[in-house]
Amino acid sequence: MTGLTRYPSNDALASHLHNLPDLKSLFAADPKRGETFSLSAAGLTLDYSKNHLTSETLALFEKLAEEAGLGDKIQAMFSGALINHTEGRAVLHTALRGSVDDSVISEGSQVAQEVAATLARMARFVEAIYSGQLLGFTGKAITDVVSIGIGGSFLGPKIVTEALKPFWQHKVKVHYVANIDGAALSGKLADLDPQTTLFITASKSFGTQETLTNSESARDWLKAAGADFSDLAKHFVAVTANVPKAEAFGISADNCFPMWDWVGGRYSLWSAIGLPIALAIGMDNFKALLGGANAMDQHFKTAPLKQNMPMLLALTGIAYINYFGATSHVLLPYDHGLRALPGYVQQLDMESNGKSCHNDASAIEHLTGPVIWGAEGTNGQHAFHQLLHQGKQLIPADFILPLTSHYPLGRHHAMLASNCFAQSQALMEGKSLDKAKQELAANGLGEAEIAKLAPHKVMPGNRPSNTLLMDSVSPATLGALIALYEHKVLVQGIFWDLNSFDQWGVELGKVLGNEVLSRLEDDSALLDLDSSTNALIARFRALAAK
Ligand code: F6P
Repeated sequence: MTGLTRYPSNDALASHLHNLPDLKSLFAADPKRGETFSLSAAGLTLDYSKNHLTSETLALFEKLAEEAGLGDKIQAMFSGALINHTEGRAVLHTALRGSVDDSVISEGSQVAQEVAATLARMARFVEAIYSGQLLGFTGKAITDVVSIGIGGSFLGPKIVTEALKPFWQHKVKVHYVANIDGAALSGKLADLDPQTTLFITASKSFGTQETLTNSESARDWLKAAGADFSDLAKHFVAVTANVPKAEAFGISADNCFPMWDWVGGRYSLWSAIGLPIALAIGMDNFKALLGGANAMDQHFKTAPLKQNMPMLLALTGIAYINYFGATSHVLLPYDHGLRALPGYVQQLDMESNGKSCHNDASAIEHLTGPVIWGAEGTNGQHAFHQLLHQGKQLIPADFILPLTSHYPLGRHHAMLASNCFAQSQALMEGKSLDKAKQELAANGLGEAEIAKLAPHKVMPGNRPSNTLLMDSVSPATLGALIALYEHKVLVQGIFWDLNSFDQWGVELGKVLGNEVLSRLEDDSALLDLDSSTNALIARFRALAAK
């Protein structure tokens, strides 16, 4: 079955896409193609001209969007409908950055007011830390803040903090710990002083094994240094929707920043989960980050499909996934600060759209979310770009480049940019057999050698990519960039008619993990699982016992 057969215009789109000329011919036919298929919004410029599309493709995308009810479904999200229907929740992360319809009410109180009150509270907290007002249990000012969280309670804050290093206020050092691997926490604590360290337990559920265990070990570390239970208030705050569980841990309600049901974990960096970001870059910059995301929200809500960045990213992606069988999508930030962006978008996209059930519970017959991967340029060029250029799979790419650097250094930035632009050009143009032969002949090779070598030098080209530019990486442009990917994921989920906002697939592993743990920690427990898992457990026990 080709494409999205549920839509009446599917067949027309499929045959149109399969009959498009190659990218080089499209560029040859229209000298202004680069301009025609570029647009700017919210501080970002998207050049999507190196995609397999023409203006007829965009018209077919528009038809598909009508058939999918795209406009109404986007509106449903912004207006607070319970679109996460398997969990009975609204999806209102956009409200965290001011994109809220005035009419939106959640659990009786105005979302916008709750958001504003929380932002004000975050500002007071940041100020208290910056001014040295918050003291540890021996009366010393807090110098280091460790945010303990995982998944959405980690990835967003971590990548934003890292990317916005030029905006750090240097009033307090911000650290992150996520993994249950003891190396993560021990390695961090080794460099810190318990008297001047504050922990943020960032967990919407306050029930995530990794976060709770790391928080407990951090609490033990404080106690070992002489802090008693009443001192914990000076060293622990939480960001959570589950205050009773935080209280049971020893964090008072007064020290809990709110999270809400209507914010999904992977969409939560804009909430108080972003507190470590605010501590690193200051509240004004945090608000600029929200402002950038809001600008992208406004663009997304109002721009027609043909000029709508998230919709264009989503639909070109769908063309490759559902009509050409692409199973992965590579993100190539040409910016050292954005090196962790692929990992962030990985959770955002794969946890949202890695689904096999339509909204009405029927089975999905086509591919859904792609594998998201990538690395910073130019490092990737010397690692995996070979496969992008000559491998057999189709892997669409997003190149991301700030036009100016916060670290001007000789010719470095021009070289970085030249690599970025040349890679998308090489993917698109490729190298023909004739050209390869000519080059070898020019190097003085004989006919027999040319015949042997030339095929190895052929690059098929015709490989699609987007290029996203911004003047520089700033709180505002980064906010817009992240919101762009959030909305791309939403739009793809709408076309695939699935719920992008639950994540039931991660649950089974958690349940089985606990069953295995009880057998790892108790030598007398019966090994009654499958023979492979039993043998693995036995090997672990044998060494743990020594
Ligand atoms: O296990 C997946 C997940 O639920 C993610 O969706 C979430 O971001 C992460 O775990 C952390 O959850 P919490 O913030 O509740 O600790």
